[in-house]
Amino acid sequence: MGKPVILITGGLTGIGRATAVAFAEKGAKVVVAGRRDEVGKTLAEELRVLGSEAEFVHADVRNEDEVRAMVEETVARFGRLDVAVNNAGTEGVPGPITDQTAQTYHDTFDTNVLGVVLSMKYEVRVMKEQASGVIINISSTVGHAAFGLVAATQGTMYAGSKHAVEGLTKSVALEVASSGIRVNAVAPGPIDTGMLLRTAGAPDKVEGLMKVIPQGRLGRTKELAAAIVFLASEDAAFITGHVLDVDGGLAAS
Ligand SMILES: NC(=O)c1ccc[n+]([C@@H]2O[C@H](COP(=O)([O-])OP(=O)(O)OC[C@H]3O[C@@H](n4cnc5c(N)ncnc54)[C@H](OP(=O)(O)O)[C@@H]3O)[C@@H](O)[C@H]2O)c1
Repeated sequence: MGKPVILITGGLTGIGRATAVAFAEKGAKVVVAGRRDEVGKTLAEELRVLGSEAEFVHADVRNEDEVRAMVEETVARFGRLDVAVNNAGTEGVPGPITDQTAQTYHDTFDTNVLGVVLSMKYEVRVMKEQASGVIINISSTVGHAAFGLVAATQGTMYAGSKHAVEGLTKSVALEVASSGIRVNAVAPGPIDTGMLLRTAGAPDKVEGLMKVIPQGRLGRTKELAAAIVFLASEDAAFITGHVLDVDGGLAAS
């Protein structure tokens, strides 16, 4: 393969942005998708300076027309889609189950779950035509572990949505395993991004959070990007339907 074509949803900040930079530094063609056009165009410029043929595409992953257009524009620009990183996510509105409403459900699940469903729908259509491709969904440790942390942060809806991401990842992996397509998830522990700071609410809460992580520190976006780049690579050719913890030991604790 020549330079692979990479699509990253929610690619303008945090883990998505670090992943875009990591792929760009490897010379890949990178499409960053997001909701803020000016920020996206500026990032695409920065990726071009790194030597990547990079583009920004506007896409809110809750909107099926925008997701379809995101994939179509990627293929129109670069002719194929080799790697899709379904990273767009929200912490939603944390709170006890007794306070949840249909709206708070939609606030979390429409981005974290429907967004992954719609993204995979159009990505797999292209990858089936190619008979190749890699999809990496971004879950969380709380997609399968760390329930004490979920209770302490009242992140029940978020944890539920990430469980769905892992179920979808494994189910679709099996659906497309014989089509030359691999589907995996990366499950970050607490990572130093805007989402973590919004969720924790205050710097002293971040300190408290670090105490529950066996390695005693937050993860770095670069460390997540490295795991994603590995799963996208030929070195991971026999890995599909897998959820890779990148969490300083949190899931094992
Ligand atoms: N940081 C952590 O500790 C941690 C831990 C476990 C899992 N994760 C997961 O990692 C992924 C990346 O999060 P992050 O930590 O890098 O935080 P982040 O910087 O807040 O990134 C989230 C990105 O998703 C975008 N986004 C949100 N809703 C969207 C929508 N409906 N359509 C398109 N884009 C949307 C945001 O764009 P806007 O600026 O437009 O809102 C933002 O760029 C998420 O799936 C998150 O759940 C993070």
